[in-house]
Amino acid sequence: MGKDVIIACDFDSMEKTLAFLDQFTEEKPFVKIGMELFYAEGPAVVRAIKARGHKIFLDLKLHDIPNTVKKAMAVLSRLDADIVNLHAAGTTAMMRAALEGLTREDGTRPLLIAVTQLTSTDQTAMENDLLIERPIADVVLHYAKTAKNAGLDGVVCSPLEAETVHNACGKAFLTVTPGVRFADSDKGDQKRVMTPAEANRIGSDYIVVGRPITAAPDPVAAYRRCVREFTGQA
Ligand code: C5P
Repeated sequence: MGKDVIIACDFDSMEKTLAFLDQFTEEKPFVKIGMELFYAEGPAVVRAIKARGHKIFLDLKLHDIPNTVKKAMAVLSRLDADIVNLHAAGTTAMMRAALEGLTREDGTRPLLIAVTQLTSTDQTAMENDLLIERPIADVVLHYAKTAKNAGLDGVVCSPLEAETVHNACGKAFLTVTPGVRFADSDKGDQKRVMTPAEANRIGSDYIVVGRPITAAPDPVAAYRRCVREFTGQA
């Protein structure tokens, strides 16, 4: 899989999601299904979108004891998502167990990436709530290295961190980056943002874009603009 734009389909029903995807008559965008949609509709929504020919990033951010995550991943691997994820904070043992669970009998498996530090967590919250006293950039990099050592394929990180992650973990280690906005669009609740072109320049492999596409007056045009800018054809 190469560089691509993943649309965050943060809808609360299958009906709304499929109606949104119906607008794309010429292309089959890569789709992110997160907790909201998955908890509303369950595995059926993954199967339905996959059956329409979309690639799927199943963003469920697993975090539990290794045995539980291993068994949950074994069940998720049957859904044939292309990318799934978990929290690196679950430790190396949990990440290794997840990989085992995810690997099918024929040796194939979806890509597995780790959330490093959520972009909603800032330095103060990390120090006060988690008792982690190191700079946030060091923590993100440490989680990325731990994920790589556990055998994972990449991380979800802010676009600002993608370059350092690639420098430390290699170019083949995937960086999937949310927090992307067009130069002329509303930031919403995202604080640290980059444009698709900037995300491309700093080496993001995939950008995850929600509202700039889903809330646009013309979502297909917004998606195409995003792909053009991110793949450098702008
Ligand atoms: O609408 P917007 O472009 O902000 O959507 C970004 C998507 O990426 C959302 O689904 C959000 O949950 C997800 N995400 C994020 N920041 C992270 C991890 C995931 O914005 N650190």
